[in-house]
Amino acid sequence: MTAELIKGAEVARQIREELKQEIADLKEKHNIVPGLVTVLVGADPASQVYVGAKEKTSKELGIYSERHDLPGDVTQEELMKLVDRLNKDPRINGILVQLPLPRHLKESEVLYAINPKKDVDGFHPVNLGKLMIGEPDYLPCTPAGIQQLLIRSGTRIDGAEVVVVGRSNIVGKPIANILLQKAPGANATVTICHTGTRDLAFHTRRADILIVAAGKAKAITADMVKEGVVVIDVGVNQIGTTADGKRILAGDVDFDTVKEKAKAITPVPGGVGPMTITMLMMNTVKAAKLAAGLA
Ligand code: GUN
Repeated sequence: MTAELIKGAEVARQIREELKQEIADLKEKHNIVPGLVTVLVGADPASQVYVGAKEKTSKELGIYSERHDLPGDVTQEELMKLVDRLNKDPRINGILVQLPLPRHLKESEVLYAINPKKDVDGFHPVNLGKLMIGEPDYLPCTPAGIQQLLIRSGTRIDGAEVVVVGRSNIVGKPIANILLQKAPGANATVTICHTGTRDLAFHTRRADILIVAAGKAKAITADMVKEGVVVIDVGVNQIGTTADGKRILAGDVDFDTVKEKAKAITPVPGGVGPMTITMLMMNTVKAAKLAAGLA
């Protein structure tokens, strides 16, 4: 079997078209324009690219977008003041503080200060707690994108054996919680594996759906999966550079061999990655609807 490709870039484009329509309707029927602010501290090149892409996508969809670039030596107090001001700004429905923050800043203090109603990253403990009890407002963006890829690729999640490799707060733990809920697009039996797991392959071989966010290039090989598995590869690892200086990327799954056994698999790049920003836009639209009492 050679796997079907789950093309995140195409699914993301389709969801963005749906959102564009929804945003136009909100403006026409309710005179509401969702607003998203991004906050970037310092000049990390990768973070600049991410924030730029978030701004660009917002504008394309008709979301009001604001960007605050703060110097790398900004104080905790100044950053907290900005968050407080944005919390109170009625034009702003979503606040995104790009991570990682410079080392002298207390990341959790900043994230906890964001009004949970404006926490479109879904990182605030209130939103993670609501997810856990099955009453989510905002799902963290990468896990939300993974669930959409599974649903829209026609993968049966209800009753499936899902194995998640990785227990990070932004991918592993939330995706496990999303898929175990008694809800449409979920209701799976979920196992979380991590660096303390004694026999990783024992678990991964049982998976109907295998979600890998381990942060280790090609950690999952063909002998570790069963025929017909659906594989979601969250990893983005640079494994080299081409002669003309471009980065060579690999996922956490050994794509070339695993694709011969899988029913469907996400490529890297072009799989999970393009979904993340799109889900941020979806959360921002939801925030605007919640603020207006429309959701
Ligand atoms: N840095 C890398 N990914 C993310 C993300 O999803 N949200 C934020 N705020 N920072 C990030």
